[in-house]
Amino acid sequence: TPASIGIHDLALATSHYRLDLGALADHQGIDPAKYSVGIGQDVMSVLAPDEDIVTMAAEATARILERNGMDGIRTLLFATESGIDQSKSAGVYVHQLVGLPETVRVVELKQACYSATAALQFAIGLIARDPSQKVLVVASDVARYDLGSSGESTQGAAAAAMLVQANPGLMAVANPAGVFTQDVMDFWRPNYRSTALVDGKGSIKAYLNAIGGAWTDYLNQGGAPFESFASICYHQPFTKMASKAHRHLAVMAGQNPAPAEVADYLADTMRYNRLIGNSYTASVYVALASLLDTHDGDLTGARVGLASYGSGSVAEFFGGVIQPGYRDLLRVQEHRSIIERRIPLDHTAYEVLHKTTLPEDGREYRTAAETTGPFRFAGMGEHMRRYERTT
Ligand code: CAA
Repeated sequence: TPASIGIHDLALATSHYRLDLGALADHQGIDPAKYSVGIGQDVMSVLAPDEDIVTMAAEATARILERNGMDGIRTLLFATESGIDQSKSAGVYVHQLVGLPETVRVVELKQACYSATAALQFAIGLIARDPSQKVLVVASDVARYDLGSSGESTQGAAAAAMLVQANPGLMAVANPAGVFTQDVMDFWRPNYRSTALVDGKGSIKAYLNAIGGAWTDYLNQGGAPFESFASICYHQPFTKMASKAHRHLAVMAGQNPAPAEVADYLADTMRYNRLIGNSYTASVYVALASLLDTHDGDLTGARVGLASYGSGSVAEFFGGVIQPGYRDLLRVQEHRSIIERRIPLDHTAYEVLHKTTLPEDGREYRTAAETTGPFRFAGMGEHMRRYERTT
């Protein structure tokens, strides 16, 4: 067994467009502070018609491969709850777009926002069995709620691609992991809908209950004490949710921190998600990228917690140790640039995009070329999706 297994490289991708939540608040005639302060969100990523979970995932994966090559990669695990097909894994399209060899197994995993964490743990299991192997874990999602619904302000889109291997450069994942599963209907999306259904207030309670359960299991399995974490990356459907979760765990650990202290402790984990919105499976790994990229001090040797939650519900808490030399592997400029280059939409254009749906009769359909990303969703014909490189 290798000395350590974990995340060697982490690359993000997001959308071509964005909607500033100030524009949404103006349209709704409400105080913009409800979003910037109340839920802790400033901007949400909005996909162009020729973007989807595959194009974002391929972009993030291609960046990982540019730097690391393909040697040793035998598995690609694709985590999403925005599946584009009931049968075929979205990861197989990514496999082709980024030019991975045929000797790679590919599968898609689903459990709401949680499945990338399951994928990471499964990857670690494969590598423990054969440390010469590497695994790509790719999380990609678009969060969509109905126009005018309570969830509308918590939409967003992003992908996070990770190279998981022995002796990782960024973060070694530690044992144990604490897990919690409970059948609850807080958020779900039936097969016939493109937008999610949610019990907003109930989902906040379910999240806190599940994270609390995972934390208790983590301690029961011999996990590290709460005070020993330099930072904790929570799943962030909106960043204020991370603050609520952190207070919940702090109280369980016998503390009672002021809201301002919690916000300071978590600030670095929230910078990207405030500007991207909910990215479901990717969210907790966007939080990790944000922490590593934007934390001023040196995190070498620091213990970081990951708190993953997927409605319905499954939660998992685990820790990792940040590795020496991690700063040389960060993608600070790249991540800043994908966030800054998004083009702002006015509210009317956003609504038009939101209402755009794909034909369901298999007829020929071409998308207009809008994305500036390296891959685009070109359209459909005979019920088959087509993708292409833009460069
Ligand atoms: N200035 C400052 N704060 C304000 C404000 C103002 N003018 N107006 C309101 N606020 C505050 C409120 O006090 C409230 O704060 P607290 O939660 O700390 O009490 C906050 O802003 C939100 O206000 P409301 O509760 O009135 O907002 P809402 O009814 O629109 O619903 C929501 C909020 C339930 C999160 C809704 O956005 C939603 O349904 N989102 C989708 C579901 C979701 O994200 N759930 C999270 C847990 S489930 C999960 O994590 C899985 C997943 O990814 C979906």
